[in-house]
Amino acid sequence: MLLPRSCLPLFFISTTLAVLINRTIDDAIPDSSGNGVKYTNVPGHAWNVGGQCDACTAGELDTTQVYDKTWHDTTFYPTGPGNDSPNVPLNASFSFNGMCTAIYVFCVLAKAKEHPFGNSDMSFYIDGELSGTFVKEAPGGQGYEYNVPVYVNTSLSPGKHDFLLQNGHVNGTAPSLVLLDSIVYS
Ligand SMILES: *[C@@H]1O[C@H](CO)[C@@H](O)[C@H](O)[C@H]1NC(C)=O
Ligand SMILES: *[C@@H]1O[C@H](CO)[C@@H](O)[C@H](O)[C@H]1NC(C)=O
Ligand SMILES: *[C@@H]1O[C@H](CO)[C@@H](O)[C@H](O)[C@H]1NC(C)=O
Ligand SMILES: *[C@@H]1O[C@H](CO)[C@@H](O)[C@H](O)[C@H]1NC(C)=O
Repeated sequence: MLLPRSCLPLFFISTTLAVLINRTIDDAIPDSSGNGVKYTNVPGHAWNVGGQCDACTAGELDTTQVYDKTWHDTTFYPTGPGNDSPNVPLNASFSFNGMCTAIYVFCVLAKAKEHPFGNSDMSFYIDGELSGTFVKEAPGGQGYEYNVPVYVNTSLSPGKHDFLLQNGHVNGTAPSLVLLDSIVYS
């Protein structure tokens, strides 16, 4: 393998001009090299394929507004009951390699304050270092907001990077939801 296939390289037209190409990774489908998003699960508490699980509280998304019609769903609960692993944040991670200089992470946000718990409390790590957060209280009401860029970083250095999204945080005070749709990198 001559090029790292998990990331499109920059195509150099001259030494000073390059064309950036976006590549989208679906939440559920690995790219052509088998590279995909990895999800951590703990007992009784998991990332689920959106819309296809009994435990998912966000059921009725408009799939025409979701990349590849799929999303991954998880809720962080600070306390029980009905939850075998309260106060454990859940992660989604993705590694990419090559001349990538930008990453965009897209989620769907639920408007409801409950059923589903629409609060957002996400932390983003690049190479193990906290690099940003997306914290938002649900506005209330019905429906969803689609294609929300919850994390954007256009100043990555070329090379291998590990990206990690953490839902909720230890000793968080409220449940928080993530509906992960896609990751774009350039
Ligand atoms: C890549 O995608 C991001 C997010 O949608 C967009 O803001 C950016 O303009 C795109 N870049 C290119 C080169 O298409
Ligand atoms: C999630 O990621 C955070 C930050 O790297 C880490 O502290 C935590 O242990 C991870 N949780 C799981 C369940 O892997
Ligand atoms: C982007 O990620 C790099 C780590 O590779 C970090 O140093 C930088 O602060 C991040 N930029 C933004 C805008 O988060
Ligand atoms: C969470 O709360 C417990 C009990 O108060 C405390 O011992 C622990 O250090 C806290 N952890 C964090 C990461 O805040």
